[in-house]
Amino acid sequence: MPEAITYEQLKVEADRVHEAFGQDFKRFKRFVIDRQAQDSFAILLEQVRSEGYSLAEAQADLRELANLETKYMAKKSEWSKAKKKIGQITDNEKRGWAGQHLLFLDLSMRDDLVYAKLTLDQIVEALRTESESLDVTIPGRRRRSGHLHPITLMRQRIEDIFVSLGYAVEDDREIETDFYNFDALNIPEGHPARDPQDTFYTTDGFALRSQTSTVQIHAMQRRGAPVRMIAPGRVFRRDTPDPTHNPMFYQVEGLCVDRGITMAHLKGTLAEFVHRLFGPDTKTRFRPSYFPFTEPSAEVDYSCFNCGGVGCRICKWCGWIELGGSGMVHPNVLRAANVDPEQFTGFAFGLGIDRTCARIYELDDIRLLFENDVRFLEQFR
Ligand code: FA5
Repeated sequence: MPEAITYEQLKVEADRVHEAFGQDFKRFKRFVIDRQAQDSFAILLEQVRSEGYSLAEAQADLRELANLETKYMAKKSEWSKAKKKIGQITDNEKRGWAGQHLLFLDLSMRDDLVYAKLTLDQIVEALRTESESLDVTIPGRRRRSGHLHPITLMRQRIEDIFVSLGYAVEDDREIETDFYNFDALNIPEGHPARDPQDTFYTTDGFALRSQTSTVQIHAMQRRGAPVRMIAPGRVFRRDTPDPTHNPMFYQVEGLCVDRGITMAHLKGTLAEFVHRLFGPDTKTRFRPSYFPFTEPSAEVDYSCFNCGGVGCRICKWCGWIELGGSGMVHPNVLRAANVDPEQFTGFAFGLGIDRTCARIYELDDIRLLFENDVRFLEQFR
């Protein structure tokens, strides 16, 4: 026989549960809207949208609301137990009062839960539709197309010219052994020519190549003779940066080895090259020079493409611009690459791409080419 309970005791217990529900339900209260009032849902939706209330948050709230319903309305809940106690009130009249009071609280809590769920369901639906919908009226985003770096453009122009003269384009390694960077190029240990070509070394004793001349050896070892190739690529030197020097820069190597190749072929080839690059009136000039891997050696200049040799700002008022180094391949270099110098002769040249590029685009400083300032680079489409 269950214990008797008075109306007053049950009322206190029921009011306490109702109050706890009110606390738990507080954050859902705004979803209990007056459904008779026009636009009430639209206004609420606009408000949650402006707060940045997300679909995920709305779905989480729905789950939270279901938990609340279980907490208060499930069979074993405190509230259900309180309702069962109505029958334990012995006074008939007061039992009636208790029934009325608890029914009122029960309805108010159920209404809250039902209406909040209804609204939240609608919000989830609206937010989901929005996130999945596609606004075909939004103007398209134009893709910003990139373009080639001025040095790449310059390299391609050089490659095109030599390919049309029958040269193959070689691509080779940037990390080298001392053998390829120096010894095979007739620069033995202790030779003073190693100084201006000092480079960077890895801890394992490998060198970042200081000139593309290393590819002469690789190409002859790979292809044997005869060979006709150019090798554009990056090289590294311990040079202090200034307007005409960078510790990393680009060169293009040229090598032509065959029977009966002479200095005349070298001069003719480079003359043709500058005609095609700068115009048919461009002249070349060969100044005696020294490179351990060529004999004889020469520096090559071309007449200024801007003033034609009269003197201007671009050629620093001397009428000539330096193109690079050149010469007849030294017999020791041919031997190092297993080519017989009794049968074959050849010429080689090495041109600086960066400085040529800077001259063509009238840049005062080759470092501009490596600063990666998009405003600068965008000018060279
Ligand atoms: C050489 O590197 C020789 N290997 C060229 C050569 C090849 C000679 C084949 C004979 C036969 P040189 O050190 O002069 O030569 O460099 C060639 C070009 O590289 C220069 O004319 C210049 O345009 C460019 N250059 C040299 N040092 C730098 C630097 N620090 N920054 C930018 N360009 C440079």
